[in-house]
Amino acid sequence: MNKMVRPFFFTLMLILISGSVFAQNPLTNEKIEQKVDSVLALMTLEEKAGQLNQHNGSWDFTGPVPDGNEYAQTRAALLKNGGVGSLLNVTGAKATYEAQKLVVENSRLGIPLIFGFDVIHGFKTIFPIPLAEAASWDVKAVEQSARVAAIEASAAGVNWTFAPMVDVGRDARWGRVMEGSGEDPYLGTQMALARMQGFQTSDLSSYNSIMATGKHLAGYGFSESGRDYNTVDVGKHTLLNIILPPFEALAKNGVGTFMNSFNDLNGIPANGDTYLQRTLLKEDWGFEGFIISDWGSIRQMINHGYSKDLKQAAYHSITSGNDMDMESEAYQHHLVDLVESGEVDIKFVDEAVRRVLRMKFHLGLFDDPYKYSDETREANMIYTEEHRAIARDVAKRSIVLLKNENELLPISKSTPKIAVIGHLAADKDTPLGNWRGRGESESAVSLLEGIENAVGSDVEVTYAEGYTLAEGNGSFSQALNFPKDDGSGFDDAVSNAREADVVIMVVGEEGLQSGEGRSQTDISLKGRQLELFKLVQEVNDNIVTVVMAGRPIVEPELYENASSLLYAWHLGTEAGNAIADVLFGDYNPAAKLPMSIPRDVGQIPIYYNFRNPGRPTPGPGDAGSVFWSQFNDMPNSPQYIFGYGLSYTEFEYSDFSVTKNTMAMDDEVEVTVTVKNSGSVAGEEVVQFYIKDHFASAIRPVKELKGFEKIMLETGESKTVTFIVNWETLAFYAADEQFKAEPGMFSLMVGTNSNDVQTLELELVE
Ligand code: NOJ
Repeated sequence: MNKMVRPFFFTLMLILISGSVFAQNPLTNEKIEQKVDSVLALMTLEEKAGQLNQHNGSWDFTGPVPDGNEYAQTRAALLKNGGVGSLLNVTGAKATYEAQKLVVENSRLGIPLIFGFDVIHGFKTIFPIPLAEAASWDVKAVEQSARVAAIEASAAGVNWTFAPMVDVGRDARWGRVMEGSGEDPYLGTQMALARMQGFQTSDLSSYNSIMATGKHLAGYGFSESGRDYNTVDVGKHTLLNIILPPFEALAKNGVGTFMNSFNDLNGIPANGDTYLQRTLLKEDWGFEGFIISDWGSIRQMINHGYSKDLKQAAYHSITSGNDMDMESEAYQHHLVDLVESGEVDIKFVDEAVRRVLRMKFHLGLFDDPYKYSDETREANMIYTEEHRAIARDVAKRSIVLLKNENELLPISKSTPKIAVIGHLAADKDTPLGNWRGRGESESAVSLLEGIENAVGSDVEVTYAEGYTLAEGNGSFSQALNFPKDDGSGFDDAVSNAREADVVIMVVGEEGLQSGEGRSQTDISLKGRQLELFKLVQEVNDNIVTVVMAGRPIVEPELYENASSLLYAWHLGTEAGNAIADVLFGDYNPAAKLPMSIPRDVGQIPIYYNFRNPGRPTPGPGDAGSVFWSQFNDMPNSPQYIFGYGLSYTEFEYSDFSVTKNTMAMDDEVEVTVTVKNSGSVAGEEVVQFYIKDHFASAIRPVKELKGFEKIMLETGESKTVTFIVNWETLAFYAADEQFKAEPGMFSLMVGTNSNDVQTLELELVE
């Protein structure tokens, strides 16, 4: 019977030619809608439920489904019956081809699978972790990184990535800050759009485009105390103005899917949240793609105490707008019953299936279900020299220069003797960071290798491990264990340092120390790293300290005592070469922190765009008073603030002006500033533009990023940068939850970071 129906189905598909795009919505296409309708009309309820079911690929498709593997057999049977709409974690041209064939050739309608995978910062050529890429403030570089990832992933059969993660992060204890773009919604939005464009391009049906996922809807980055999966309690104001803007931008610009989050938001599990999924995303923002649950998050509504069993969890999930079930088996086991018993209206199921089919058509899977499974492309397009060169370029753009007090940097390539110190300096695994796709363990260029590649043979480079870190490497799913370092590496490190002209000391955290399930209460340097740093400092003044980490590390003594300091994150495959590019001046660093570095965990959450409390400072004549919003034992400010980062050259800002000081609601003004490279080497500067709304129906932050431009300036060169301000620049979700600009006074600020700014005033009038 199967085989009799399929020809009709495909004939139907052939008759329907691709059509015009409806006006506004990037995912609405008239011809695709007709095709979706025609497929939907053919489907049984069981087949519909099957399309909404995503499973993990847990067996090797390069051969026949193994005998005796009950799990695999069940999955294979499901696939053959059209009981699965998508697989995750099946990669490789051959494996995806085999799985696709099983479905297309055996299921009644032959509806192709989508293959999802976490392509977070590269597929096999690994790029900097997303937080590091955000530090580049370089939208072109970030788009290119996602483009390379898509080219590689699509050559290995993957057509859907669970990225970008757009959760705003204000708490470095939360291990997943490495996966986002930091603390600011505007920067986060620009990064999200760049990544989406790199993955999807403007033609999602192309053989090397992959569908993107905005995740995690919503509030996941605000988990209480930074503990992963924990409760989230945030007010509407923060939700609408801080957390949701990147999601809204993705929805309105054609992202294919969203993933909901594990957390509950103000008492409702996000997976069952009708307001987030239906009201906001699908109705208000007009999102036409589909929502996937997170791994097991439908089932986890039982643990939350929201759904009493898996059946009710399926009910809560489908009715609140979650379309596809990742690994809960809730839809698989209960959707049919729920519809047949009348508990769930078929319209919910139809809507979800319609969305899934729509995206399958957009991907062009009905035309050619195998187009991503091309072994020749897989052999030629992955981990190429070209991709590695791009990874190196993006990596060097992500390195933040925090200190260069004695201008020790850049280091001369004819320095006679360089001592490289630190376990992490020779570590070929840590730079890959967490969520490393199909990057091979131990495959990164270590910093030691990068230094050796950069300097000639007449430079003597010594290496001492110095301190130890976690035992083994940890694995994605295991907690790290940090046994006490016996200090046996200290002597070598100190004696190498004593004899060297320059010391390069690497400290930080291992590649899998941040990421999912990697929350920590203590985010200082683990083990005896700081102790060794101090010993090394006693014998040599010329130390360049390099921090490799997946999050802001809290270590005031290091930051205060180091004279030359680079924040080098986890930079991917080409990490060592990229850091060497910066160390030896082949590249002049220009990155800026996307997340403030706290002085102490006690300051967390800490972020530049806070709202002023009623007692923000001690009043005049109030010196010594305690009755203002402060810590008695520490300044309020972070160690390094959002947007901070130095260069090997100097930039002078001048002629800051605005075309008018009063602006009508339907008008716009231009804000200009001239930036001059007054130093001795060429360099890039990220010119940052902030605003402050003085009085509003709901309190506005003391500063909000509203624009930035990265410019290249030769020595002595000046450029004028212009930012356009209109009502939308000044608008926010006000006390009545409407997006609008309220008349009144605004400050317009430009500068080199969120602290060092020049200010002008603008009045907005009706
Ligand atoms: C759980 C993570 O929260 C999510 O981001 C990821 O995409 C899925 N697992 C699939 O690996």
